[in-house]
Amino acid sequence: MTGVGVAGLGYWGPNLARNFAELGVLSWLCDVDGEHRSTFAARYPTAQATGSFEELLAADDVQAVVVATPVPTHYELAKQALEAGKHVLVEKPPAMRAEEIDELVALAAERDLVLMPGHLLLYHPGVRKLKELIDSGALGDVLCVYGNRQNLGIVRTNENALWSLGVHDLSVILYLLDEEPDVCIAHGRDFLTAGVEDVVFCYLRFPSGKIAHMHLSWLDPHKMRKITVVGREKMVVFDDMELERKVTVYEKAPWKRADSYGEWQTRSGDISIPKIPTDEPLKLECQEFLRLIAGDGDRRKVAEDGARVVRALERLTVSLGG
Ligand SMILES: NC(=O)c1ccc[n+]([C@@H]2O[C@H](COP(=O)([O-])OP(=O)(O)OC[C@H]3O[C@@H](n4cnc5c(N)ncnc54)[C@H](O)[C@@H]3O)[C@@H](O)[C@H]2O)c1
Repeated sequence: MTGVGVAGLGYWGPNLARNFAELGVLSWLCDVDGEHRSTFAARYPTAQATGSFEELLAADDVQAVVVATPVPTHYELAKQALEAGKHVLVEKPPAMRAEEIDELVALAAERDLVLMPGHLLLYHPGVRKLKELIDSGALGDVLCVYGNRQNLGIVRTNENALWSLGVHDLSVILYLLDEEPDVCIAHGRDFLTAGVEDVVFCYLRFPSGKIAHMHLSWLDPHKMRKITVVGREKMVVFDDMELERKVTVYEKAPWKRADSYGEWQTRSGDISIPKIPTDEPLKLECQEFLRLIAGDGDRRKVAEDGARVVRALERLTVSLGG
């Protein structure tokens, strides 16, 4: 049976520890902070606790490691874990530079290990529904996708809106279109903290001709968590702020009447709301990690898709600074 060790028990790591405990595979806990460690060691008495990542990697009953530590540590810890022969689930973003993630992907492939980035939204049943609608052809050809992730949020001092908010939408857009963008442009401003952009607009163009946009901001009157997909036949919106209408499908499209000399008309038909399961996305993400370890699914694609996100993030970051 797989034993999972969770490293990093700050804000997010405890959610991962809870899910792996519920799945019956949590074997170790690791945090350099003694207080965080003792809180969770008391909550999960059957798991061993350590402040040393090396001790975690040396444990025989750890086949897989979850890295939920601060972003700048991801690459180094994930690399150590892969080198120790452990499968890795690393929180988003899995690395800060394309060169680093390419090295992790190569290492995982060489050792046939799972390297899964923690892109939570990819396991959201609403996002899965978008993917199903696109892949089944129900929307017709997809023309463009855009994400809105805005809020009058906490003023960040170390991570800009692109890295903190954009990584979510970028992972979804690349998952939905399954293409590597050939153009990545970002514009933004650091209104509150010098060098930390709180408002960012991004434009992506793909080899197929599809385009995408992301509006990422902590300076906004609306709290928005939305992805819109525009197809030739139908349009669909995933709205994570909605409780019951997570996904709405609009039968709205342009079309040409045969007798109108090629003029465009618009068609507005039914609006439908498919039922979306309420399963916790993080639980689905953890289950997917265990499935990949068990040999189900395409572990190489999962790792490579993670690298695609880091590559696009890096290109957007260069554009933002330019
Ligand atoms: N998927 C999501 O929706 C989501 C949400 C929040 C955070 N995150 C991600 O989770 C990660 C952690 O974020 P957070 O907000 O929990 O940070 P945090 O600062 O609250 O917690 C990080 C923890 O890691 C510990 N740590 C640092 N270095 C360590 C090491 N070398 N070994 C062991 N423990 C170490 C710290 O002591 C701390 O307890 C980040 O990558 C973040 O992007 C993901």
